[in-house]
Amino acid sequence: MNTPGKIIINQSKCTRCKICANVCFSNFLPVEDGSIATLDSPSMCASCGHCVAACPADAIQHPAVPVSACEPLRESSRLTYDQLMSFLKMRRSRREFTEQNVSRDVIDKLLAAAVQAPNGINRRNVQYTVIVDRQVLGQIAVRTTQQIAGLAKLLNNPVSRFFFKLFNANLYSELEFFMPLMNQIGAIRDRNVVTYNAPCAILVHTTKKDMCGSEDSVYAASLIQYAAEALGLGTCCIGFITASINGDKALQKLVGLPNDHKIQTSLVVGYPEFRYGRSTPKADANVKFV
Ligand SMILES: Cc1cc2nc3c(=O)[nH]c(=O)nc-3n(C[C@H](O)[C@H](O)[C@H](O)COP(=O)(O)O)c2cc1C
Repeated sequence: MNTPGKIIINQSKCTRCKICANVCFSNFLPVEDGSIATLDSPSMCASCGHCVAACPADAIQHPAVPVSACEPLRESSRLTYDQLMSFLKMRRSRREFTEQNVSRDVIDKLLAAAVQAPNGINRRNVQYTVIVDRQVLGQIAVRTTQQIAGLAKLLNNPVSRFFFKLFNANLYSELEFFMPLMNQIGAIRDRNVVTYNAPCAILVHTTKKDMCGSEDSVYAASLIQYAAEALGLGTCCIGFITASINGDKALQKLVGLPNDHKIQTSLVVGYPEFRYGRSTPKADANVKFV
């Protein structure tokens, strides 16, 4: 973890409320006289900014998080639960897009939402590859379709299926579920049913070894989906391109994926052809209380 330098408490402003010590047990140490001390060289500071954001007296000077950069929060911005639920129901996986491109400005807004996501120890390791080149998007779709068709062919053959099952029992049991879809995708020639001709794809990736990489990426991608909805765009998570690029060196080269990286999740983004007039019911959460 990078050591940002000493966090200073302006004692003339500090009200000794101890909120800083409550939000960060690593770097703020309550002293017997009621004041708070900070470490000379904090070794466990993630620069998450909680101390600065929570201090009601603006008494904390953090070397990496200046208070001037911390936007005041307004209670009036809080959504009601009903507002939030209505909005959540507006997001659907979109598989039809207009020709309209997604501008750089809009992509920046989507990514500004993504970085609001929680992430393991605030390491901010997630990286994004945004593909707006339609030729590259087309190549990904074609190659992914070929891979799906090839795998379907292999698994439709009783002999190769037997050996595939023998050596990849778990993977086969999962792929079996996808077989009808894979057969369909392999057979459709006149439509792009992989990236749906979306004008933009966002690959969300981290190093392969990153222990929080998968969760960090999915939280971030989810925020992209809701930001897109708010901006009038539609998205669809495309597991097929995640798998296809991760398993194909030529595609990795095409999109410039670093060698030690793995795509954790992928989205296509574009302007949807139409608006949904209704939500559809979702099954209740499968929950167990302990
Ligand atoms: C991990 C993951 C992978 C997905 N992969 C694909 C895909 O390759 N192609 C596709 O059309 N939809 C894909 N989807 C979208 C799901 O089919 C969709 O989220 C689900 O049917 C629920 O519909 P909704 O998102 O409209 O609520 C994927 C979703 C997730 C979360």
